[in-house]
Amino acid sequence: MKKWYAVIGDPISHSLSPFMHDHWFEKHGIDASYIPVHVEPKQLEQAFRSMKLLGISGFNITLPHKQAAIPLLDELDDTARIMNAVNTVAAENGRLKGFNTDGDGFVRSLLSYPVDKERALLVIGAGGAARGISFALSRAGFSNITITNRTFRRAQELADETGSKAVVLAEAEANLSEFATIVQTTSVGLTEEALPLSLTHLGSGSVVADIIYNPLETPFLKEAKAKGCLVLNGVGMFVNQGAIAFEKWTGIRPDTEEMIQLITEKLGGNHVNR
Ligand code: ATR
Repeated sequence: MKKWYAVIGDPISHSLSPFMHDHWFEKHGIDASYIPVHVEPKQLEQAFRSMKLLGISGFNITLPHKQAAIPLLDELDDTARIMNAVNTVAAENGRLKGFNTDGDGFVRSLLSYPVDKERALLVIGAGGAARGISFALSRAGFSNITITNRTFRRAQELADETGSKAVVLAEAEANLSEFATIVQTTSVGLTEEALPLSLTHLGSGSVVADIIYNPLETPFLKEAKAKGCLVLNGVGMFVNQGAIAFEKWTGIRPDTEEMIQLITEKLGGNHVNR
């Protein structure tokens, strides 16, 4: 019987997940459909009941439901529990199990670049995204992580939880050349021409990542590139979080490089940004 999958969010019409998963289902000869469903916060519980009733095989959860979904699940995996947020659900025998593939998706994306796990890595930001990424980086063996954030207290709390260091923004800015890898996790650059911190002291040998993928090149990445750094945008994280979800549902590891290229083209770029 044909299987069905979905992504729920508010808003949802611009999601690229249906394109991505439908492409992979077709490529692997899997008889399944993946649909975007607009669910408002007040409808979340009803949406879960309905999807279960209608025999959904799995779904993704995007903003603003990643936390509110937790009490509606039958089971939660450790990563989702630590992050207190769910982006992927698998239905097995009518039971819904929640996962979070965002942090691991970022790490997979980063590892396709020449990065050294022993060398100093800076995470900018201390919100939900930074949390998932910091835990995933630690799990993956990155051993020298520093966190900085506009609100220092949040950086300190996250650093304490992940066994990392925390520094104030001014200190991170002054010592930027010491970081071999820099990861930008805030929303700065999404809608405005601004930087989360000054890149004056950035060296030319760093790998600089931004989790934003629309625009493909944030002002932060543009400046890092101009300084000679190797840069990566958030397309790789987006595709890899989807690939890990797809693998949980089907057992198949899809082609992420081809999908990064396709999504980049959809977003107006003509080549992979590296
Ligand atoms: P998300 O789940 O997307 O990470 P979040 O939990 O609201 O969202 O966290 C947003 C992050 O972006 C935080 O690190 C936030 O810094 P504060 O903790 O100081 O609020 C950061 N951020 C948002 N707007 C910012 C701005 N204009 N300048 C610097 N940092 C900003």
